[in-house]
Amino acid sequence: MRERIEDALRAAIRDGRLAEGARLPPTRTLARDLSVARGTVLAAYTQLATEGWIRGTRGAATTVARVAADPDQGDPGATDPPPPRHDLRPGRPDPSAFPRAEWVRALRRALAEAPHEALNYGSAQGSAVLRTELAAYLRRARGLRVRAADLVVTTGFTQSLTLVAHALAARDAGAVAFEEPSLEPHRAIVRAAGLAVVTAPVDAHGIRVDELPPAALAVLTPNRQHPLGVTLAPERRAQLLERSRTDGMLVLEDDYDGEFRYDGRPIAALQSLEPSVVIYAGTAAKALAPGLRLGWLAVPDALRADVVAAKELLDRQTGVLDQLAFAELLRSGGYDRHIRKMRLRYRRRRDVLLTALGARFPDLEVAGTAAGLNLLLRLPDAASEERALAAAHARGVALQGLAEGAYYEGEPEYGLIVGYAATQEHAYAAAVEALVGALGNAGVESTRPSARISIPS
Ligand SMILES: Cc1ncc(COP(=O)(O)O)c(C=O)c1O
Repeated sequence: MRERIEDALRAAIRDGRLAEGARLPPTRTLARDLSVARGTVLAAYTQLATEGWIRGTRGAATTVARVAADPDQGDPGATDPPPPRHDLRPGRPDPSAFPRAEWVRALRRALAEAPHEALNYGSAQGSAVLRTELAAYLRRARGLRVRAADLVVTTGFTQSLTLVAHALAARDAGAVAFEEPSLEPHRAIVRAAGLAVVTAPVDAHGIRVDELPPAALAVLTPNRQHPLGVTLAPERRAQLLERSRTDGMLVLEDDYDGEFRYDGRPIAALQSLEPSVVIYAGTAAKALAPGLRLGWLAVPDALRADVVAAKELLDRQTGVLDQLAFAELLRSGGYDRHIRKMRLRYRRRRDVLLTALGARFPDLEVAGTAAGLNLLLRLPDAASEERALAAAHARGVALQGLAEGAYYEGEPEYGLIVGYAATQEHAYAAAVEALVGALGNAGVESTRPSARISIPS
């Protein structure tokens, strides 16, 4: 009875039938009306007063307290936005290719074998089991010079950059240099940490090291510049590391899609040349799934304690079940097998796209085709980019404009960044067809190759 009285009064107050200040009947009266013991009503009033719904249960009249009214409608629930009809957004892998069965197997085994203590609060640096497997993988697959003790497990590059920026901000470091163009959210992270952003242009050999302003850190994508697709040339790598040695500038190597090179041999990470000045960052976002939220950093000794302290401050540690499952996927060879499979799939998709574009638009300048999950179609001006985006939009094709994407701090260049990995396999041919149709509608065949630098693929 007591609970029913409480529920009825709560409901009446919530939906406004009992307004703020309204007097409730005295306990004796209500008890008589309801044929219950007065103590029952008193107990209900006391509970409601404790929760803040009503005021003054003893002596004075009992009145309704101030309570926010319910919104008119009930909770309609939440729905995720549907994916685009033709998903050619850059930087996204095929979500249907996630190795679900392998992951479940790895998770089951990890759970069976992990000691109870593994589920406790653990090291902010990351699970030792994962760091051991990851170090072996990075030495083998990306040529890193790294030990498990150098690694910090994060929730992806976004967090890796946040941690490094916080560690530098705590030291009152100077500016952070980015490639021009680069991802705007990454520059925003650095600014949010209170650091200034400077940039240097990118040409056919990668970032112009001679134009790098003074900086405490340079954030680079050496394996494949995002979004232009050029690889940092050997002379530039040497020049950059020389600059690091003389100026004390650190380099953050964003190896976001280092596993995916289709033409020629894989290029070892920059970190392998100078592990004392290069912070290496990897992510599972391209090889497995962006939604997994797993990444890693190899941090030079001088900065590691500060990066781990930032991680501890930010979110204590990365979820341990994902860490252990990923460790098992690395140990079993499942990760290598998955990458080999996806490399073949994405290379095939790239070839299909290049063939379709070449047949219809022989004059179109296509860049950044040797690696990664996207390529760049250069366009001569803002109007042609806007036309192409509008035509793509009209056909349900989602992709990214180079100027539209705010990759440039200064004057932008123009083009379309086309991600050929994001669609599911069965939908790919239709997506390419829709893109070619949209480009035709936009009159792209009449554009000449850009007069700007030409980027080898
Ligand atoms: C250049 C670049 N770096 C890093 C990432 C990955 O970020 P995260 O690991 O936070 O998903 C992306 C994803 O789109 C990217 O394009």
